[in-house]
Amino acid sequence: MGQCHMKWLVPVFVFWTTWAIADHELDDRDIAAGRAVYAENCAVCHGANLEGQPDWRTPGEDGVLPAPPHDASGHTWHHDSAMLFDYTKQGGQATLAAMGVTGFNSGMPAFDGVISDDDIWNILAYIRSTWPEKEREVQASRNPPH
Ligand code: HEC
Repeated sequence: MGQCHMKWLVPVFVFWTTWAIADHELDDRDIAAGRAVYAENCAVCHGANLEGQPDWRTPGEDGVLPAPPHDASGHTWHHDSAMLFDYTKQGGQATLAAMGVTGFNSGMPAFDGVISDDDIWNILAYIRSTWPEKEREVQASRNPPH
């Protein structure tokens, strides 16, 4: 096989894998609505500018962590979309229990019945829209292929 042939194949392969791991739940969302619902429900803990609370890696005396940032300095982009959705809808305690994590005192409330599923996805799309390309790609790669 000649060199030219390979040069043609590589971009096709890259395109195909990117498409396969694309983040469909977060695509074509209402970013402005997500920002507004975030401001109303999440900013009180996670910060008006997604900056989180000070010393967010250090648990308080009750073992509860301060709210982490959702911007690129946090770890939101390390998690797949389904986990982020569940964490918001079911809250931290129930989501971690479902993953087999016990003995953790979560400070993240459940928004089931408070925020619609669509608006949870809008919030997550708004959060994603603030990340640089690299963090977006890493986050997309955490999702199972559709
Ligand atoms: C009462 C404070 C509080 C509010 C309000 C709150 N959170 Fe959280 N959140 C936390 C804390 C504390 C954590 C850290 C993990 C834990 O304790 O379970 C967290 C963790 C998370 C996580 C998982 C970790 C991460 O970095 O991604 C997501 C996703 C999340 N919150 C989304 C939201 C969204 C979306 C809203 C608004 C709809 C919201 N939170 C409102 C306190 C809060």
